[in-house]
Amino acid sequence: MKVRTGFIYLSILTLFLTAASYFYWKPGLWSLIITGPIIFIGFYDLTQRRQTILRNFPVLGHFRYLLESIRPEIMQYFVETDTQGRPINRMFRSLIYQRAKDVTDTVPFGTQMDVYRSGYEWMDHSMYAIDESQVNNKPRISVGGKGCSQPYSASLLNVSAMSYGSLSKNAVLALNKGAKMGDFAQNTGEGSISPFHLEPEGDLIWQIGTGYFGCRTKAGNFCPDTFAEKASLDSVKMIEIKISQGAKPGHGGILPAAKNTPEIAAIRDVEPHTDVHSPPSHSAFSNPAELIDFISLLRERANGKPIGIKLCVGKKQEFIDICKTMLKTGITPDFITVDGGEGGTGAAPVEFSNSLGMPLRDGLAFVHDTLVGFGLKDEIKLIASGKIFTGFHIARALALGADMVSCARAMMMAIGCIQALECNTNSCPVGVATQDKTLMSGLDVNDKSVRVANFHRKTLKSFTELIAAAGVKSPEKLERKHINRRIGMNLIKKYDEIFPYTEKNALL
Ligand SMILES: Cc1cc2nc3c(=O)[nH]c(=O)nc-3n(C[C@H](O)[C@H](O)[C@H](O)COP(=O)(O)O)c2cc1C
Repeated sequence: MKVRTGFIYLSILTLFLTAASYFYWKPGLWSLIITGPIIFIGFYDLTQRRQTILRNFPVLGHFRYLLESIRPEIMQYFVETDTQGRPINRMFRSLIYQRAKDVTDTVPFGTQMDVYRSGYEWMDHSMYAIDESQVNNKPRISVGGKGCSQPYSASLLNVSAMSYGSLSKNAVLALNKGAKMGDFAQNTGEGSISPFHLEPEGDLIWQIGTGYFGCRTKAGNFCPDTFAEKASLDSVKMIEIKISQGAKPGHGGILPAAKNTPEIAAIRDVEPHTDVHSPPSHSAFSNPAELIDFISLLRERANGKPIGIKLCVGKKQEFIDICKTMLKTGITPDFITVDGGEGGTGAAPVEFSNSLGMPLRDGLAFVHDTLVGFGLKDEIKLIASGKIFTGFHIARALALGADMVSCARAMMMAIGCIQALECNTNSCPVGVATQDKTLMSGLDVNDKSVRVANFHRKTLKSFTELIAAAGVKSPEKLERKHINRRIGMNLIKKYDEIFPYTEKNALL
């Protein structure tokens, strides 16, 4: 029995019993005074649209806020610590919510961070800071190299890959509708394109994983014909081949029979009510030459739409080998998404999330520098993901060499995720990462889509303000020298010392 429906039945029963007892035993108004406000609060909770937790758990949901005011939950997502080494949860989590709700996002009193701990990072401002209005504040990034005939003009910040199946129908709808409002793109994740990705008509990056969901043969291999059909959809602006994601690189997945409903099966091109495996690697390619052929095939069948790859850096030599094949064939992807080992997931083994895959900053610098060294960077745009949710995080990624960024978990928080850590149990209390219809019905698509657009706009605004303070007029002018890292109490290094630039063509 779900709390929402339970509450409605219980209220009707209580009202009936109160009326009956009043009629028979005349107990006075005291019973109404006790039950009335509770029922009133409950119905208010059920009908309001802003707090999913209260819509899903009327009356009871208030205890969460009460308990949280006494002791905020520990959030795994935020990494900064205060002077006592405690994670700074509240400030960053509030920041995402405040930006999503479009309320004041300034903080009083000053920094809460320990600025003397090693690892603390900051940006250089300028004595000749410029006005925000002088900065190119709506930069678009054109993605598409020489082989691409339909380049996509992308926003600097987009929604990272999260599938329908991992996310609820209402979550997918809210993200796509928000993307439409804010003119940015949503990555479908590897679970194929659902009707909910298409209904609001926001731009899509269609991701193809090892299961080839939405473009697979009965045996589970890649099917060029169904691929071409979906790739031709207007909403599909770019296609991303997922090689790996930071939270579980080299790990396959299983869609259990119980979750494989006829609806999901139809979207993913699989048999309903059966276990469906996505292998740890692709069957369409097993070496650099085959990967490049696959990119060519997709580009041809997608009528020249941009084709990219997503990876978390593992063995460096494997990436270098791909670059050499690009040079040899003259065929390059249009974009590469570098995901950090610190990236998120709906479900992964602990060891994979914590101890596999290069962290974003190291992986991004390596991929950027290798492309520059081979003279390939001009053709290929770089997208960075991994705990990027503030203007500074964007600036840092761009300084390292990214052209644009994407975020997943911050977008989940924008639509109400409270980090209940229930994504893998189907019982997400706020209806974001669940297929439970009652829980997801609490997530109001209209309200949350506005929050997605707000979060996008306000985060980019904070980024613009930051680079204006540094006197930088345009995002692509950010350089490694703009960012500092404390190495020890008396030692500070600039990013260009930690990640020295590679000269163009130096690796040829
Ligand atoms: C619920 C959830 C589902 C995800 N599903 C996918 C997926 O289908 N494909 C993929 O490449 N990455 C997936 N990711 C990883 C994100 O796309 C992203 O790479 C990673 O979370 C880093 O971004 P973040 O730190 O902003 O969350 C998922 C992440 C989350 C939290």
